[in-house]
Amino acid sequence: MIDGKKVMLSGMQSTGMITLGNYLGALKNWVHFGDDEDIKCFYGIMDLHSITVRQDPKELRANAKRLMLLYIAAGLDPEKNCLFFQSHVPAHPQLAWILNCYTYMGEMNRMTQFKDKSAKHADNINTGLFTYPVLMAADILLYQADLVPVGKDQIQHLEITRDIATRFNSIYGDVFTIPEGYVGESGAKIMSLQDPTKKMSKSDENPNASIFLLDDKDTIMRKFKRAVTDSEGCIAYRDEQPGVKNLIDIYNAVTGKSVVETLKEFEGMGYGALKERVGETVAAELEPLQARYKELEGNKDYIERIMKDNAAQASYYAEKTLRKVKKKVGFIEMPR
Ligand code: TYM
Repeated sequence: MIDGKKVMLSGMQSTGMITLGNYLGALKNWVHFGDDEDIKCFYGIMDLHSITVRQDPKELRANAKRLMLLYIAAGLDPEKNCLFFQSHVPAHPQLAWILNCYTYMGEMNRMTQFKDKSAKHADNINTGLFTYPVLMAADILLYQADLVPVGKDQIQHLEITRDIATRFNSIYGDVFTIPEGYVGESGAKIMSLQDPTKKMSKSDENPNASIFLLDDKDTIMRKFKRAVTDSEGCIAYRDEQPGVKNLIDIYNAVTGKSVVETLKEFEGMGYGALKERVGETVAAELEPLQARYKELEGNKDYIERIMKDNAAQASYYAEKTLRKVKKKVGFIEMPR
């Protein structure tokens, strides 16, 4: 709790260009919570997480800045929500180190994302990649978050966060709030448009597999037109038709409609018309975001002020928790 308000925290890695999956699984839900006066929200641009995979420094900087603009363009008001860069708040890696000493190798070994990523980057299986969930736990626990809105793929990381926090609390008393995950009803796992058995990902080598948030309308329409479906020829919401199911999920996540409503609306429609309808809907959803993004691009001074103010605000709360943790563990306080 902060000032009697519940705390919400989430974030994205500043790697590549964020996708429609990131938007529908996370960002769109964050915007929804941003309007609630009873919740204090923190949203990080998780640049420390990004270097678990080798990054070009110039690109990393550009991606991180762009992500800040996209958060704001999507509707997160930086005067109400604390939008910060993880690398501006040193308490994150400091708490992560401490929590590393309360986390077991066996726990990290079980993480499916570690297994997937180390298979994908076999030439760079670094220890940062291995302990990545501990840094994520620190991100969350530093702000005493009650609620963490994420897509389905982050649930395992959230569970380990709860385990680490519970373990720490059982040794030292009530230090950390135990966070709950929040996964939206639709959009929690948006799949690749080219292989609907795989999740839509920023790092997919096939650019047609993902819709990127700054794709223009023609590109969006073209990618949906090429989306892989099946030869059944009927619009149904079932696992045997993952491509069609994914298009319905995307449509529902954007419009807020239920599966029943959508199936009724699409009754008798062919796949071509379905793809066109979904493409139009997504393009219309992203158009105002893209227009705001363009405006913000020219507003350097405003963005710099936001970066500075919000880093100070995030640090204030994070340092408070870190001081408490250090004291509990037994470190000597620095004389003031
Ligand atoms: P990241 O950067 O991979 O993804 C950001 C958010 O987008 C969601 N997401 C998806 N949702 C639906 N369909 C998809 N295809 C899809 N792809 C991604 C993710 O679930 C996530 O919510 N480790 C995190 C970043 C992080 C974090 C945190 C999140 C670091 N510290 C603290 C919450 C709290 C990550 O790599 O997300």
